[in-house]
Amino acid sequence: MQTYTVQPAGSIRGEISVPGDKSISHRSIMFGSLARGTTTVRGFLRGEDNMATLNAFRMMGVEIADDGEVLTIAGRGLHGLREPEDVIDCGNSGTSIRLLTGLLAGQRFFSVLTGDQYLRKRPMKRVVGPLGLMGAVIHGRDGGEKAPLALTGSPLTGIDYTSPVASAQVKSALLLAGLYATGETRVTEPHRSRDHTERMLAHFGADVRVTEQGAAVSGGREMEGREIVVPGDISSAAFFMVAALIVPGSELLIRGVGVNPTRTGIIDILLAMGGDIQLLNRREVSGEPVADLLVRSSSLKGIEIGGDVVPRAIDEFPVVGIAAALAEGTTTIHDARELRVKETDRIAASAANLRQAGVSVEETPDGMIVSGRGRLDGCTVDSRGDHRIAMSMLVGGMAASGPVTVTDTACIATSFPSFLPLLEQVSRR
Ligand code: S3P
Repeated sequence: MQTYTVQPAGSIRGEISVPGDKSISHRSIMFGSLARGTTTVRGFLRGEDNMATLNAFRMMGVEIADDGEVLTIAGRGLHGLREPEDVIDCGNSGTSIRLLTGLLAGQRFFSVLTGDQYLRKRPMKRVVGPLGLMGAVIHGRDGGEKAPLALTGSPLTGIDYTSPVASAQVKSALLLAGLYATGETRVTEPHRSRDHTERMLAHFGADVRVTEQGAAVSGGREMEGREIVVPGDISSAAFFMVAALIVPGSELLIRGVGVNPTRTGIIDILLAMGGDIQLLNRREVSGEPVADLLVRSSSLKGIEIGGDVVPRAIDEFPVVGIAAALAEGTTTIHDARELRVKETDRIAASAANLRQAGVSVEETPDGMIVSGRGRLDGCTVDSRGDHRIAMSMLVGGMAASGPVTVTDTACIATSFPSFLPLLEQVSRR
């Protein structure tokens, strides 16, 4: 099992770029494959999750060339996918399996989707249920709640669905199915989740519209290939933002980060905690807003976090826990029950790991209460196979009073294969 130990840093300094956005990378393969003609993708994230999506489309007959810099996708049009001859393995990737479930439900062929030991435990009914209302025929373990999922492609009808959870994966699965459905497919959410699917559908020329609290698509319209430039992943930048904030004497410039307002909850949270973060050189790339982030070490204070900001920062709570532990005062996180069904239960994992580092944490059903302590103790913790849990504790180790060891760090490659060298690069002793 891979294990990694970080030593406390003297400061975090320099200029970096983080790899491409994971959500946008998945969608670039999907829409590029379904469009007619060529799509090129620059800045594609070559993490394990995105490679699972790429392999799935290769299995369905899509030619995708990779020269190491640019992906070139020979799009096959809405009805050009071929039946995969084998089970599609989505690995650890929730986005791959849930979005593919929506996309494959309306094909004219049979397919089976599965994943690793963690993904096979995660809830799928949230997409299987509403897709069934559209006419999809999907079978899975536990009445369709758990993968493997077997899909018998069938004709679909648009629905007007109000989702009980703010989930971009649910919304996107239904919109993808909606491309094949008769009529309009409309999804409404309790809070707006990331909108990369809607933006990219519009960019490719699909018949999509943004609604008051969600999105709608009408089926049948072909899309055209496009050039995509994937911005840096704010969820990856978040680890470096927090590292620079919590280690005294730090100043870090993170270039080319996607700052789509449905993703910038982490910036809002850290600013509210007193973080010194400036957004410089704002611009737009492939329909997505981008900026450079200048981050300087700051005295953080505890805050209350809940409501709308939660889906806008949903992947960042493990590292918010680190910021909270290093802050002065109490941070209360609520409305974040979704964290319990991520790659692991991120409330339980964060609480257990912070306690190992000497921090007092109270778990609640939908969040946690962290008593800021201004430092972490050196410790050994386990990632539970979750990339963001692993990276968060290594960031915490930058400001700990002794070495922090994380066991089972291979999972970092799912989203951020260059994380460890980049962390070493910016750490001054
Ligand atoms: C994602 C949506 C979010 C997020 C995940 C990526 C996406 O999941 O946690 O990392 O690309 O659509 P949920 O839809 O389950 O909130």
